[in-house]
Amino acid sequence: MNRVQVSLQERSYDVLIGSNILPELNCLVQDVLSASQFFFVLDTNVEATHGEIAMDSFACKTDHYALEAVESNKIADTIDSIWSSMLNQGCDRGTVVISIGGGLTGDVGGFAAATYLRGVPLIQVPTTLLAMVDASVGGKTGINLPTKRPDGTTILGKNLAGSFWQPRLVVADVSALQTLDDRQLRCGLAECVKHAMLGHPEVISFIQENHDGIFNRDEEVLIELVTQSVAIKAEVVAKDEREAGSRALLNLGHTFAHAIEPMKELGLFHGEAVSIGLCAACSCSEALGMIDADFVDQIRVLLVSIGLPTRLPMPIQLEDAMGLMQKDKKVIDSCNRLVLPSKDGAMIVDDVDKNAILLAWASVGVTSS
Ligand SMILES: NC(=O)c1ccc[n+]([C@@H]2O[C@H](COP(=O)([O-])OP(=O)(O)OC[C@H]3O[C@@H](n4cnc5c(N)ncnc54)[C@H](O)[C@@H]3O)[C@@H](O)[C@H]2O)c1
Repeated sequence: MNRVQVSLQERSYDVLIGSNILPELNCLVQDVLSASQFFFVLDTNVEATHGEIAMDSFACKTDHYALEAVESNKIADTIDSIWSSMLNQGCDRGTVVISIGGGLTGDVGGFAAATYLRGVPLIQVPTTLLAMVDASVGGKTGINLPTKRPDGTTILGKNLAGSFWQPRLVVADVSALQTLDDRQLRCGLAECVKHAMLGHPEVISFIQENHDGIFNRDEEVLIELVTQSVAIKAEVVAKDEREAGSRALLNLGHTFAHAIEPMKELGLFHGEAVSIGLCAACSCSEALGMIDADFVDQIRVLLVSIGLPTRLPMPIQLEDAMGLMQKDKKVIDSCNRLVLPSKDGAMIVDDVDKNAILLAWASVGVTSS
């Protein structure tokens, strides 16, 4: 079992990465904290499998809330239901919330833990590759909020309410990925590519050299992939826990991605939107002369070899994309602030030239009428 520490003084915690470790979840948790009551927030797709294995390891009182992992459930009403369920089960400030599922369940369970009785301890048990390499680490929790599109219709803006609430422990059992389908596995690889683009080309080589091992769910390969990616994220988070500065680098590609992910007509999962967002960020950077065309091609070829999209599945209007991009929380305090790939990694660029943004959108299939 590998162990990566997220160093945050008194809020430091370990990310444990191994295979077949869920049956020992109770012991792993008890090593970190003791509690008389545990409340599980469970992704319905893993409830009867990985969720049951994990819950069975606990001899004491456990209750749970089952959540269907769709973005339309990542809303305030769901948090309200979890709070009520916790109250009805008599959860107090000593109750530990354990989120078991993908990034969506982690974000929702995490936000409920952050706010119930002003905050109770949280354990993250990610069961998708995306949640293992990214979402479960770093303490961001949150939900979507309804917002308007230019045509007056309502759409769910990504992660517009939330909090920083660090888990006390993250347990990533790569054996859970045996039941994850290839499309979701590819979504996780999009976040690995993002981490690699922050100045870690060795992760790109690892993905290229171990393509078959990853898709065959070779658990040794998956442990190494998750460990490399978590180590990158942990280092960034340790330097800037609350995104006052350099942590924003982790948003590479996400300002573009968050504009297109909520558009239901595109049918994109988060990791797929990130993949297209990374391509748009590359084009923007190339237009600004920060990277050359060869680098952009290298990233596109890598994403295509993984089976990730590099363009929108259907055209969307520029006005729509720009409108939602402006609502992304990362661009509010500074006009056109973007994280863009550079020669040595990525950098935060303020007041990005609007023409470069338009070119970036056009490069992934956004049209202007
Ligand atoms: N907090 C953060 O730092 C952070 C970072 C990245 C993404 N996110 C958020 O994470 C979400 C995306 O996470 P995701 O890609 O894990 O998606 P997800 O949580 O929606 O899970 C994807 C699908 O896989 C299913 N699933 C989960 N584990 C499974 C398993 N082991 N076997 C079979 N099916 C399984 C789920 O039920 C769901 O249908 C988005 O809401 C995104 O905003 C948060």
